[in-house]
Amino acid sequence: MTSTDAWPSIRGIAYGGDYTPEQWPREVWLEDVALMREAGVNLVSVGIFAWALIETSEGVFDFSWLDELLDLLHDNGISVDLGTPTASPPAWLFAQHPDARVVSREGVVMGFGSRGMASHSSPAYRDAVVRIASALAERYGEHPAVVMWHVHNEYGVPVGEDYSTHSVRAFREWLQGRYGSLDALNAAWGTAFWGQRYGAWEHVGAPAATPSVANPAQRLDFARFTDHQLRACFVAERDAIRARASQPITTNFMANQSWTTDMWAWAREVDIVSDDHYLWAADPEGEIGLAIAADLSRSVGGGKPWILMEHSTSAVNWQPRNIAKRPGELARNSLTHLARGADAILFFQWRASRYGAEKFHSAMIPHAGTGSRVWREVVELGGTLAQLEEIRGSRVVADVAMLWDFESFWAQDLEWRPSVDVTHAEQVRAFYERLWRDGITVDFALPGQDLSGYRLVVAPAQYMLSERDAANLNRYVEQGGTLLVSFFSAIVDENDAVHAGGFGAPLEPSLGVVVEEFLPLREGATCGVSWPAESAAPLVADAWAEDVVLRGAEAIATYVDGPGAGRPAITRNRHGVGVGWYVSTRLDAVGLATLASAVYRDAGVTPSDAPEGVEIVRRRSDAAEYTIVVNHRDEAVRVSAQGTDLVSGVELDGELQLPGGAVAVVRTSRVLAREVVAGLR
Ligand code: GLA
Repeated sequence: MTSTDAWPSIRGIAYGGDYTPEQWPREVWLEDVALMREAGVNLVSVGIFAWALIETSEGVFDFSWLDELLDLLHDNGISVDLGTPTASPPAWLFAQHPDARVVSREGVVMGFGSRGMASHSSPAYRDAVVRIASALAERYGEHPAVVMWHVHNEYGVPVGEDYSTHSVRAFREWLQGRYGSLDALNAAWGTAFWGQRYGAWEHVGAPAATPSVANPAQRLDFARFTDHQLRACFVAERDAIRARASQPITTNFMANQSWTTDMWAWAREVDIVSDDHYLWAADPEGEIGLAIAADLSRSVGGGKPWILMEHSTSAVNWQPRNIAKRPGELARNSLTHLARGADAILFFQWRASRYGAEKFHSAMIPHAGTGSRVWREVVELGGTLAQLEEIRGSRVVADVAMLWDFESFWAQDLEWRPSVDVTHAEQVRAFYERLWRDGITVDFALPGQDLSGYRLVVAPAQYMLSERDAANLNRYVEQGGTLLVSFFSAIVDENDAVHAGGFGAPLEPSLGVVVEEFLPLREGATCGVSWPAESAAPLVADAWAEDVVLRGAEAIATYVDGPGAGRPAITRNRHGVGVGWYVSTRLDAVGLATLASAVYRDAGVTPSDAPEGVEIVRRRSDAAEYTIVVNHRDEAVRVSAQGTDLVSGVELDGELQLPGGAVAVVRTSRVLAREVVAGLR
């Protein structure tokens, strides 16, 4: 099975969710399948947390309930994404192997009674996961209900890093493989600093809690190692299944919400990318975070359709304030994921649990039952998705790329950086949000990949950049691309060591600048940036300024006050036949909009003229183009459109009238947004 053509063998868009019938008596199972049919559910994920009920003691299996369940689902035409339950090992495993428990950075050994408490470096755990995955694949590899395998659950969540003795030993071995010699390790970690030089491998350990800041290169390597260990566990399970079954295999990522796994590397190992996404309730515009996660899920898989493995019908239960979704939001969220490349819309979970830690989490069948608004919306969405069958397999259209590099993010967010006010996540969000508001769809990309297909590449936070990746970006500009780079980029190499020649020196060819000194601002302070061509009033910036030295670039904007007063703030440089822009400060939203429009002009990118809050994304197949229009506003909007709205079935002759909160999927040749219709609902 290659990752190119893998897709579970089900018709149309997959629809359903996590299904935990082990929490319910048999009569509920019968009601469940009847209701699944009513809602148009065609795929459920089963068994994800059921290890203790399948392997009741070491090597003793009880498949009877699972046999019955899979047959029941199959008889009702519902396909199964079969989980390996390895995110939650049974009590007997820890009783027999207390050393298989994960240990925190502070040295706390995690207890039983939750989930995710296993050390991924423990030999007993590794053996046990291969045993259960093999047993399941052996038994169900040919079961007609099973169309996909769901290994584990959200690797790295809730625990990624592990400081157990097994982990420390494995880290040392991993370092020996990476560096070959202690001399190379000492050089890479810069152990001449603070007298950290190692003279024996057995002295090298994990960066456990230290009195002051731990060696950043050691921490970065431990993050890489953690990702590697988790992935090795996945690969072991995957290969055990592959040896016995032929269905595609996935594991559910947490794009944009978990920082312990490098999704680019993981995407190479799965047959299909799948992702879980939950709105961050404190964010009144959670749809922007949703779009980031969806674009990332699509991008790591090379643009292929992906599976939204989990999201919620309404509130979650694990945030400080769990805000219920408003009417229509369930469909808006679902169809936005679909717009951005998901061909499967699944929820956590089918039926709300009566007991346990997640009893206040929403579900497709909430505690209020089928007389509820949520259930009605679930049934309605099932009907809508059935009408969208033809969109499956089409690809999202994007001509702007934004760099997303997990290793750089891991390094940037370590301690003792120039200012706590700047994080990679906040930088990505600011630039992505600008593009989102301008209706420009973004692919995420690695700095070393082929970028030549993009009109514009944005590097909002590229703190760590190898010479090789910098050469790739310089070449991209030289050959005609437009590159926009934000401050604190190209600062260190792969070992978190500062590049020679001034901050940002590796990008000097394309940007025409280097940075002599960082000039962070005090908390809450702002500074002005002149932008003569567009506005009489200076743009407003905060948090960060720099002493930028021109090396061929033109200063487009200058600091009018603050620590950088009189120095260049925003620069533009011609390199070959392309252009490199550099912004050395954190502009506010208005400033960023001003900068973006100038950059778009250079790149030949046209922002959408849709009213604010109307999200438009295009997918294209050989036969047709689909324009998904999501109206996040309360008021109706009119959008120029030709074609058929597959949601309403209405033929559009030049205009789509979309009520507040509604979504349309227009099979169309062209869509141009025009105006908000005041008062129209
Ligand atoms: C995660 C897990 C699920 C469930 C949901 C609740 O995504 O994968 O098992 O706990 O969160 O939001």
